[in-house]
Amino acid sequence: MAELQALLSQAQAEFAAAPTAAELENAKARFLGKTGRVTELLKSLGSLSVDEKKRQGAEINQLKGAIEAALQARRDALAAAELDAQLKAQALDVTLPGRQRGMGGLHPVSRAIERIESIFGSMGFDVAEGPEIETDWMSFTALNNPENHPARSMQDTFYVDMKDAQGRWLNLRPHTSPMQVRYARAHAERHAAAAADGSMPEIRVIAPGRTYRVDSDATHSPMFHQCEGLWIGQAISFKDLKVVFTEFLREFFEDSGLQTRFRPSYFPFTEPSAEIDMMFASGPLKGRWLEVAGSGQVHPNVVRNYGLDPEHWIGFAFGMGPDRLAMLRYGVSDLRLFFDGDLRFLSQFR
Ligand code: PHE
Repeated sequence: MAELQALLSQAQAEFAAAPTAAELENAKARFLGKTGRVTELLKSLGSLSVDEKKRQGAEINQLKGAIEAALQARRDALAAAELDAQLKAQALDVTLPGRQRGMGGLHPVSRAIERIESIFGSMGFDVAEGPEIETDWMSFTALNNPENHPARSMQDTFYVDMKDAQGRWLNLRPHTSPMQVRYARAHAERHAAAAADGSMPEIRVIAPGRTYRVDSDATHSPMFHQCEGLWIGQAISFKDLKVVFTEFLREFFEDSGLQTRFRPSYFPFTEPSAEIDMMFASGPLKGRWLEVAGSGQVHPNVVRNYGLDPEHWIGFAFGMGPDRLAMLRYGVSDLRLFFDGDLRFLSQFR
């Protein structure tokens, strides 16, 4: 029947033209839906004679089968195309160069601290670390710096408006010197045992770490690093300090002709006290005295706060700035570059 044949062609054409599954379902409804063309044809059979019903009914059912087959074929084609597109969208281009993990490196200040630790380590110094939030007593009082004494204002300390469990005021430590006291007290039992058997061990330690002061310019940062040094024994003298520190600087800067001088100064926790200056024997800074550390013989009051008897224990302490040493070693002119976290600067030290 030509009419049915035309209907089939039309359905096939509309299915083929449907670009999406949703539109295909709309097209299906136009032919096979409740009011679709084929459904309408079937309904019209009711008015025919039994014979005609049979004949035309069979033909229409055949047409319906053919349209359903065309519909399924188009459904399959659309699903396959969709899968294809999805696979294409997710395709990996295996010819692209891989994205590699960046090569990290140690921060120049960390490298300077590691160098300091290894040089002092080779001279028998232990390495200790301590808290950056300190008590008032540790930062000042124990270091012979009484409450309300003007020497406290030598350091523009960040005070914390908070007390610890023992009711002591807190601050961000303005120097690593509290570590002298913490380390000595932490080893009190060892010292007592040694004193009892007459062996009298020494305290020989460095304590690097972060310190804080209200200060910020090209050579000062509110957060900076210090490294404390302490050597206490029965007969440790200023001479030992000079030898140890000069040797350290010569090794650190790989300059065997480097010179030091000890310039009288004042610190509440040392007496006598000295500022340590150094001068390179070669290089662009040759011939200029550069201040690198504070130092001195530990004050008897401080030795007492270590829990030790100043009649028997004597020695020296020093405090230096690893940031400054790193600036000198790597030729960096602005301290702030170390702490900006700019990879263009930092990656030069990898
Ligand atoms: N703590 C001192 C400072 O911050 C340095 C120092 C340490 C001086 C040890 C003498 C002895 O400036």
